[in-house]
Amino acid sequence: MKIVKSKAAPASAFAMLFLIACSTTNAHAKADYHGIPLGAAEAKQGGALIAVCAACHGINGSSATAEYPNLAAQQYNYLLKQLEDFRDGARKSTIMSGMAMTIPPSIDNQNLKEIAAYFSQQPLVVAGVSTAPRARANVTQWKEGHKIYTQGLASDNIPACAACHGLGGDGNGPMAIPALALQHQAYVLMQLDQFASGARNNSPGRVMNGIARAMTKQQMTAVAAYLRQLNPDSAIGIGPKDYREYVQAVDKTRNPGNRSQPPQRTTPHNHK
Ligand code: HEC
Ligand code: HEC
Repeated sequence: MKIVKSKAAPASAFAMLFLIACSTTNAHAKADYHGIPLGAAEAKQGGALIAVCAACHGINGSSATAEYPNLAAQQYNYLLKQLEDFRDGARKSTIMSGMAMTIPPSIDNQNLKEIAAYFSQQPLVVAGVSTAPRARANVTQWKEGHKIYTQGLASDNIPACAACHGLGGDGNGPMAIPALALQHQAYVLMQLDQFASGARNNSPGRVMNGIARAMTKQQMTAVAAYLRQLNPDSAIGIGPKDYREYVQAVDKTRNPGNRSQPPQRTTPHNHK
């Protein structure tokens, strides 16, 4: 794979196109998934509705199985849209199409909203993943993923993922763009495959289909590996500030007894 020096321009052009697509395609607009996320009281109601979901996604939305996505700290609007898409067939999955139907019907999809509120407000806790550079198993692969994610590859027509999903991989709430940081590698790869084949085609303006089709399997794997280790905090300025702090952080990770906490992702409104 050749690495090229690319500028940020193609990515922002894509992002512009996407913004335009979003504001003009109302054909897919369903409930108000661009609405204001429900609060803590409703999230609590949602917590009472997820007993069956917990078997795969974890009681707090941090899943232990790489094929089952983490839902914790995922964007509320994105979760709500996916549940609606599974219910009405816009997104198909042998498992989830049926699972979504087990959620009791409710006026104005209140139950789906409460479930989305519940998972979006849980912190994502990922055990056994280190975001420290020295702990990365495959540095070449990580670098390739980093390049694609932050800058894109102009020569291959791949836009920077960060243009929409954010540098820290937090996604975008009002635009229902999913958070990707610390998501399972196998799950991300599976979704990119599905976008490329067209098995999944529920992204607004089919934007993800075009992007995934431009990618090779190696590029998909690299970006999925990068995301699994992306420390969301490092990109928004709460990571190590200077080299000394950075080395201390790395040493903590190498010396498990000293390690304070596994990496976590919280929704942006939780960052104080
Ligand atoms: C048997 C395991 C299983 C159970 C139980 C289950 N899920 Fe899932 N869930 C999956 C799998 C697998 C996927 C990925 C589907 C795909 O893309 O093919 C998924 C995907 C999702 C997604 C999309 C996440 C994303 O990042 O796009 C949401 C939201 C979700 N599930 C919510 C739920 C809820 C709510 C329940 C309970 C009503 C539930 N799931 C029960 C396995 C399960
Ligand atoms: C122009 C904006 C845009 C760009 C650029 C973009 N994405 Fe996306 N992506 C989206 C949107 C919007 C969705 C949600 C689709 C939906 O509604 O189901 C999405 C969904 C995804 C998903 C599914 C997540 C899940 O939880 O199921 C993955 C994986 C993904 N994108 C990876 C990437 C990667 C990797 C890149 C860069 C190579 C990228 N995206 C670039 C807008 C974008």
